[in-house]
Amino acid sequence: MAHQVRAVVARGKGAPVSLETIVVPDPGPGEALVKVEACGVCHTDLHYREGGINDDFPFLLGHEAAGVVESVGEGVADVAPGDFVILNWRAVCGSCRACRRGRPWYCFHTHNATQKMALLDGTELSPALGIGAFAEKTLVAAGQCTKVDRAASAAVAGLLGCGVMAGIGAAINTGNVGRGDSVAVIGCGGVGTAAVVGSALAGAAKIIAVDIDDLKLETARKLGATHSVNSRATDPVEAIRELTGGFGADVVIEAVGRPETYEQAFYARDLAGTVVLVGVPTPEMKLELPLLDVFGRGGALKSSWYGDCLPSRDFPMLIDLYLQNRLNLDAFVTETVQLDEVEKAFARMRQGDVLRSVVLL
Ligand code: APR
Ligand code: ZN
Ligand code: ZN
Repeated sequence: MAHQVRAVVARGKGAPVSLETIVVPDPGPGEALVKVEACGVCHTDLHYREGGINDDFPFLLGHEAAGVVESVGEGVADVAPGDFVILNWRAVCGSCRACRRGRPWYCFHTHNATQKMALLDGTELSPALGIGAFAEKTLVAAGQCTKVDRAASAAVAGLLGCGVMAGIGAAINTGNVGRGDSVAVIGCGGVGTAAVVGSALAGAAKIIAVDIDDLKLETARKLGATHSVNSRATDPVEAIRELTGGFGADVVIEAVGRPETYEQAFYARDLAGTVVLVGVPTPEMKLELPLLDVFGRGGALKSSWYGDCLPSRDFPMLIDLYLQNRLNLDAFVTETVQLDEVEKAFARMRQGDVLRSVVLL
């Protein structure tokens, strides 16, 4: 039996999204049908809508979601109907080279549902990041469901499905921030602020938030930044050096995704320090650095894909910390909206006045 549900679809490049009825098949082997309860609005959804990812319209948008498993297909053992789950886009395959080398957080071959969701006229949909959760129900690979404690609200849990996990993971997984470290975070939107929170969680002694917007800096300070620098007014490299005894930070996390801010990150770290790029650049961007500085400053230049997270390891742990009041995730939900308000949320995101808008279903 197929299910007809309401969902947010992007039909063509740059066109406003529309609320449509879509058809979701019952789960086949290895698949799970999830009743979505909440789904955050992420920049990537807007990129899909603008044709910036690929041209496989129509897209079923939404990918930062939590909900309850309604039914599962043949051979699914890890989740069962009734489980409260966060959806992930790293359903590790277990057999690619990264998985076989024991580094599944890099899995190069993650799983998605095999069957297609479709419009009423039969046109197949492309789900954003293999999820598609601005929908009352969605079909995913069972491995895309990570069971977590039901005591967390769906709005908060869903955040871990993408941006907030990317930021926290950039600090704790990719940057290996440890007790006593100095950290600078350049760009304090949802992702950068999550990197601030992750650094605090990991025991960083000094956390310097950098942004061009004072409101963002204020929020970052509330959530754990010990210092803040408005880089519109002040040279951030100088400021970070001054705040770290002239050395630079042990770890600098770039959460904007631009050459200028990457260069700031590169020079704002101490010798042998680490740069983590979690902001996503666009294809035309180029970086130029003196190779002698790359050599002479040593250390590590890393990128963080989805916070190098392993959903089965990281989601339940972070939800537990949240429930113990050791991790403030509530602050990331700036507003909750309805399914027909995704365009409005995109507009607010463009203005830069939200960490996250979350659709409640
Ligand atoms: N210097 C410092 N901060 C900047 C600069 C700059 N030159 N330009 C923009 N910013 C700040 C903005 O003021 C904003 O606070 O960077 C932040 C970007 O935040 P958001 O737009 O909310 O984006 P976010 O969801 O945090 O994602 C950041 O990570 O996952 C990627 O695609 C995502 O590239 C994006 C980045
Ligand atoms: Zn794999
Ligand atoms: Zn996202």
